[in-house]
Amino acid sequence: MKISVVGGGYVGLVTGACFAQLGHDVTIIEIDSDKVKSINNNQSPIYEIGLDLLLKQHTGNNLSASTSFDLLATADIIFICVGTPPKPDGSSDLSYIESASSSIGTALKNKSSYCCVVVKSTVPPGTTEKNVRPAVLKTSGKSEDAIGFAMNPEFLREGRAVEDFMHPDRIVIGSNDLRAGKQVALVYQGISAPVIHTGLSGAEMIKYTSNAFLATKISFSNEIGNICKHLGIDVYEVMNGVGYDPRIGPLFLNAGAGFGGSCFPKDVSALVSLAKDAGENPVLLQSVLTINEQQPHRMIALLLEKLGTVSGKRITILGLAFKDNTDDIRDSCAIPVIRDLLQKGARVSAYDPMAVPNMQQIFPEIEYCSCATDALVGSDGCLVMTEWPEFSRLDKEFDLMAHRVIIEGRRILTCNGVEGICW
Ligand code: UGA
Repeated sequence: MKISVVGGGYVGLVTGACFAQLGHDVTIIEIDSDKVKSINNNQSPIYEIGLDLLLKQHTGNNLSASTSFDLLATADIIFICVGTPPKPDGSSDLSYIESASSSIGTALKNKSSYCCVVVKSTVPPGTTEKNVRPAVLKTSGKSEDAIGFAMNPEFLREGRAVEDFMHPDRIVIGSNDLRAGKQVALVYQGISAPVIHTGLSGAEMIKYTSNAFLATKISFSNEIGNICKHLGIDVYEVMNGVGYDPRIGPLFLNAGAGFGGSCFPKDVSALVSLAKDAGENPVLLQSVLTINEQQPHRMIALLLEKLGTVSGKRITILGLAFKDNTDDIRDSCAIPVIRDLLQKGARVSAYDPMAVPNMQQIFPEIEYCSCATDALVGSDGCLVMTEWPEFSRLDKEFDLMAHRVIIEGRRILTCNGVEGICW
């Protein structure tokens, strides 16, 4: 099939490259010409395991990128993968979705064959029906016989996105007309997973609900962990025992510094905002966010218990990315921690295998080191913020600290003398 993907960010680029791997002819439409150049030169503008290899195999063959929406005219199916960033009140900013829809419609004006427009971006229920559909139909001047609409949420985890795309637990296809739903199912031929057909808004809501439930599991584990800490109980032992119940399951019960990233905080906030607009008071979802906002500050409270003050002290941050295997720092728990430490007068040294250049944009004033050892030399306290596997091998490096005070937010260290945030 001829597939166009509008938006070459994390989701669009992985989606496009994986569709190329499935044998489709893929064009990624991206307004940032630097990204387009980079993709066409086989160089992924983002770090994602397996993506470089896919670009190498398919760019110039059945995968290319362009800034021109005109190329959409030849597509059988178009996936919208643009961002839906949060507005200050937590609701989703749909301006990129709306402008992409209008540009798609304009490009389809003279198209004679059927085409299906599929929203993959995470959008509030009703968006495909009430925003995308009318915008595309208006600017194209066409009827629903010529253009179909579908919503196909992504469930990709950063750092494991290629693997998640190729081996999904399910493929959700929302559409209000049979033809569009069938067309979307066809592009996934070759992938073995249950296909769930829903209405448009149902698919949109499945995405929000999945992320909100996963975030709830994490905040729940953190609250239990905070209680366990007072009682002298190991929350990891508790959640291991709890997770054996198949009604609960063992995943996403790791207590720690809280969830970050571009999805959970944004999507739960958007759902809260949607609920309020509908006249509901979403107490559970709000608590999920509140627990998550407070959690990283517990690391500082523990540090202050040990050191009395951090003013003038050298404090080491190990891990800046919002999780391992990514250079992404969006909503990383390290950000509020560094901000708080700087406000309290600490001298911060930091190390992360991948995310230093991104964090330098936010905190140019702190000391960035090229390895954990350098960051730890002469340090008065260390906070572990990200679950990078290489941290699990650290031990003697901590002897280089002026005071061996180690507070862990991720349960990744294996050495002795470590205080866990909630264990
Ligand atoms: C998340 C979902 O897992 C994906 O299914 C979804 O497609 C994606 O959002 C999205 O909406 O696009 P992602 O944000 O990449 O994926 O990362 P996760 O692996 O889910 O981790 C999110 C955060 O939760 C990280 O900060 C991680 O450290 C934290 N976490 C995760 C915990 O604190 N405890 C856990 O048990 C699991």
